[in-house]
Order: sequence, then C-alpha cells, then structure tokens
Amino acid sequence: MYRSHTCGELRLADANKEVTLSGWVQTMRKFGSITFVDLRDRYGLTQLLFSESLNTQLDASPLGREFVLQVKGKVNERSSKNANIPTGDIEILVSEFAILNKAVTPPFTIQDETDGGDELRMKYRFLDLRRNAVKKNIELRYAVNRSARNFLHENNFMDIETPFLIKSTPEGARDFVVPSRMNPGQFYALPQSPQTFKQLLMVSGYDRYYQIVKCFRDEDLRADRQPEFTQIDCEMSFVEQEDILSMFEGLVKRIFKDVKNIDYTEKVERTTWEEAMWTYGNDKPDIRFEMKLCNLKFPAHTFPVKDNISSLIAGEFAVFNDAETVIAIAVPGCSDYSRKQTDELTEWVKRPQIGMKGLVFIKYNADGTYKSSVDKFYTEDKLKAIADAAGAKAGDLVLILAGAEERTRKAASDLRMYMADKLGMRKADEFKLLWVLDFPLFEYAEEDNRWVARHHPFTSPKPDHIPVMINNNPKIDNAADYLKHPYAGIKANAYDMVLNGNEIGGGSIRIFQRELQEKMFEALGMDTAEQLHKFGFLLGAFEYGAPPHGGLAFGFDRLCAILGGSESIRDFIAFPKNNSGRDVMLDAPSTIDAKQFDELQIKLDLK
Ligand code: AMO
Repeated sequence: MYRSHTCGELRLADANKEVTLSGWVQTMRKFGSITFVDLRDRYGLTQLLFSESLNTQLDASPLGREFVLQVKGKVNERSSKNANIPTGDIEILVSEFAILNKAVTPPFTIQDETDGGDELRMKYRFLDLRRNAVKKNIELRYAVNRSARNFLHENNFMDIETPFLIKSTPEGARDFVVPSRMNPGQFYALPQSPQTFKQLLMVSGYDRYYQIVKCFRDEDLRADRQPEFTQIDCEMSFVEQEDILSMFEGLVKRIFKDVKNIDYTEKVERTTWEEAMWTYGNDKPDIRFEMKLCNLKFPAHTFPVKDNISSLIAGEFAVFNDAETVIAIAVPGCSDYSRKQTDELTEWVKRPQIGMKGLVFIKYNADGTYKSSVDKFYTEDKLKAIADAAGAKAGDLVLILAGAEERTRKAASDLRMYMADKLGMRKADEFKLLWVLDFPLFEYAEEDNRWVARHHPFTSPKPDHIPVMINNNPKIDNAADYLKHPYAGIKANAYDMVLNGNEIGGGSIRIFQRELQEKMFEALGMDTAEQLHKFGFLLGAFEYGAPPHGGLAFGFDRLCAILGGSESIRDFIAFPKNNSGRDVMLDAPSTIDAKQFDELQIKLDLK
C-alpha cells in the first residue's frame, strides 16, 4: 500500500494514528539533528519530522526537491502550528521512509510564487501543473464541466460524439487539415465546431444534444483564443429563441451556483446588437459599469433611427467638423486630472492599436466651472451642453474622440474599458451577464466585395426579413455604399451571451428548409455546384423532415477563465499552446519523417 491518507487529509483528531503517505518533497529544512520536510500531493501539504535516528539513512540516501517519497509514521500534534494550511496542526513523526523516485532539480520553484517565466513553465508544463495556482484552475475547470453535465443531463440533453476528421468547408476561420493516406491527395479538416453534425442529429430526432468538445481553428491567437479550444456545444429541436435563452441562462446560473456559490437571481439583461454598438461601441460590452458613449455625431446610415445631436458641437473646430463620428464619454471623478495625465491619455489613444489622431477633453470641475482643451472654439455654455449630453456630473472628465465611424467607435469602446480598468471598475469577483440579440445576418467582406455570414451560414434571418433576402439580389453594385444595400439591414435570429465584457457563448435559430438554405448559400456567393460540393449532405437532409431547431455553444475555456478571475484562457487549459500556436513542451508542430510523406504520397515544396 503506497498510502493510507493523502497529504491534505490529516487533522488533530487523527493524532497518534499510524499512517502512510506518499507525495513529492516540496521543501526540506534541517534544524540541528532533525529534518522537516513538506510533502505535497494533489490534496495538500503535510509536514514530516525526521528525527535523529533516521540521519544515517538520510545521509546514505539524501532527499531532494520533487523526490517522490513514501513515509510511514505517527500523527503528532505540532508544537508550533501553522494556521495557513488545513493540516497545520499536525506533523508526521517518520519511522520509515523510502524514496520511490528521484528528481533532478526542477527548472523553477514549484510554489505559488514561482521564479519561472511563461515559456519555461510552458516547456515544463507537467511541473507547472503541480503548482497550487495552476491546479486550482484545473479543478475549477472540472467543476464547471461537472456542473454543466449535471444540468444538461437533468434537462434531457444527450451527450453524443461527432467526428473530428471531417470535410473542409472554410467559413469564418481557416481549417486545420489532415492528409489521408488511404485517399492520396485528399484531406480531412478538423472541425471548427460540430455545427452541421448537431443539426443532422436534430434531423435524426435527438432533440436535445450536447457535447463538451474540442474545436479547431487556424486563426490569429490572443489571450482568449487558442487554436484548439473547447465548447459546451448544444442544440435543441422545436424551440424558439426565447426557449434557448431561458434554458442556457439556467445553465450559466447553475454553474455560478455550483462553482462559485453565487445565487445569480437577477434577470439576465438583454440588448440588441445595434443598441450595444450605439451605447458601448462594442457587441460584447462590459455592463458592470456605466460610462456609456454619447454619440455627438455619426453617419446617418449607421444608426438611421437615432437622433442626431451634432448641433451641440457645431462651430469653428475643424476636427469635429471634418469627422464622420464624434463620441464623448464622461469619466466619473477625474476632472482633477493633471496636464500630465491628460497627455498620457492622449498618447494612449494615439497608439497604433487605437489609431486616433488626438483626444479632446472637458473638465467639469467640482466647483461647477468648465475647462477644456477646445476652450478656444466653444463657449462655456456650449461646453456645458456637451458635458450634459455626455451625462457628466460635477467632478467628471469628459473625453471626446473624433474620426472615421468604425475606428472611432472601437476607440471609444477601448477607451471606456481602459478608464474602467484604471478606476478599478472591473472587479474579478463581480459577474454580470448580458444577452446581445438581433445581430446582422451578413457582414460585408471588403476584399471580395461580397457578403459573409456574421455568425455562420446556417443561421436564420428574422422571419420578417426573409422576404428582403429572397426578393433582393445579393450583388453589391456600389462597394462604398454597401450599407445602403437591403442585405445590410437584415437581422439574424442570433444571440451571444456576454459575461463581464467577454463573449462566452453564441448561437442561433437555424434555417431548416432547403430552399432558404440554398438562398443563403447563394447570398454568400456560392453557386449550385459549390453548394452541393460543400453542403450537399445538409441540403439533402433538410428534405427528409428537418424539425425547426436552434442552439448555441459556450466557450468553455473562456467561461472557466472568467469564473477564475482571469482573461487568459491558457491558464485554464492543462496543455495549452503559446501565442504562435506552438506546444513548446512537445515542440509541435514539427517536421515529419520522409517515410510519412511517402505513405501520404506528398512531396514538400515550400514556397
Ligand atoms: P462561435 O464561433 O461563436 O459559435 O463559438 C462559440 C464560442 O466559442 C468560443 N470561442 C473560442 N474560445 C477559445 N478560442 C477560440 N479560438 C474560440 N473561438 C470561439 C467563444 C464563442 O462564443 N457552432 C457555433 C455555435 C452555434 O451556433 O451553436 C459556434 O461555433 O466563447
């Protein structure tokens, strides 16, 4: 028997028990003739006391950090207790020990505060995973997994596996491809998601499906993106949008309860895509704080039904006069910003990632006066009117950006988040969910002057927008004015779930009739031959009694990271890739043997 207890288990009530523990040597301290060792396993740390009688044996086979050690001994009450760990009241008086395996000196310290840098820890990920901080994340991930499975099982969802070697149909991200030895010159693709399979399962009658499943996308990586990531993927038949929203709010609330012991009883807020873009400049807004955008000026076609208040900034100031869009944000309590601080903000918006030419500010001072970087151009009354429109109160700093629509809106959104971070408004332990609804069905792809599906090509338009799709030609005659094309206004039955400013899930009600699906493919520029080549199986299936259906997928890694108070999903994946998509531990991707190329009948000819 290697162990009678774990290293996290023994308490004062176990005093005098004879026990056997196995684990890793975390630290060793010698005091005169006795030696203390902290022994670690997945469950915790236990202090071991080696008395003088073991010194000869210790001298003959000395211990080292990360050695795998087995000890037998008696549980003893400690004279100096450690209140910081659950086993801190006891220690083991070791009577026998055996080194089960030696370890070379680890390249970094395996403790909460490690001295290892990112790349080093990735290279030795199996050691990093021993650290408490990482282990907690992996445990949290498993808790989310269990909670989701329990909820879905209780609600009649069935976990059904779908294949990983599928057909390449790039739409959205690039596919990872796998050559087929048995079919020389042909390739499988790894699924970007099980989307079409889950729809086929609906046609097959499995009306509630789920899978916690790997997805593969060859796209540029960021903190919240990995080339292989995991989704909680779900689909339901005979449902409308409302059914889906309420089911999956239920799932997330259950996860909050099970994993964080949070009763999320409040109603999950909802906004439309258009309202989110208007109010926050972003379709995944963080609504834990206000600082809403004040749209002082914007192109008429972007928000046709919104009131234009550009008269407020009418005057001699050429920057505002020439700009397509002018947006203000009132930052609470910052009217006392120094020149240095406003200069720093100006530099921040001028960085290439933000891309603004400058920043205008109005200080609405605590004493009710106004001071602005554009005092020359606007009277105090005008400054007051602008500050009022932005919702500023005395003591606030109004920041104003001006430029081209898309860039300025994004910059305003980034600035809002930046200021919120600065002011500590984005608290890791506060959670706020939001549904974003009514996304546009299409997005304009400038390179090809055509429409692409904003979510994916299986998403249905809002029912009253179907005639707009059917009765208009998708061709875009005037690229500069694509927003005036009837397709630009078509909204989808699609929804995203946003948590603290992160898109944690997205889905849609699907098209389930062949004709509409064909029309959709046609709108995306696919002729009949291409439609049949890529999606013939789905179009065919729709002719055999496809039920109305819809679903969504959560980004499992993202959900875990946010619940763990981080925006980097890497820390929540046991074996993640680095930012260039490499597994630095395996050193993958790598070249393959000449024999493997031969078998695949592939000759490498890199450009
Ligand atoms: P979508 O592409 O929106 O939808 O993906 C669903 C969720 O998966 C997460 N996600 C990612 N997480 C980590 N790394 C990535 N590279 C990555 N890409 C996406 C996001 C996202 O919200 N089949 C549809 C779902 C459906 O319609 O049912 C789909 O895949 O959190």
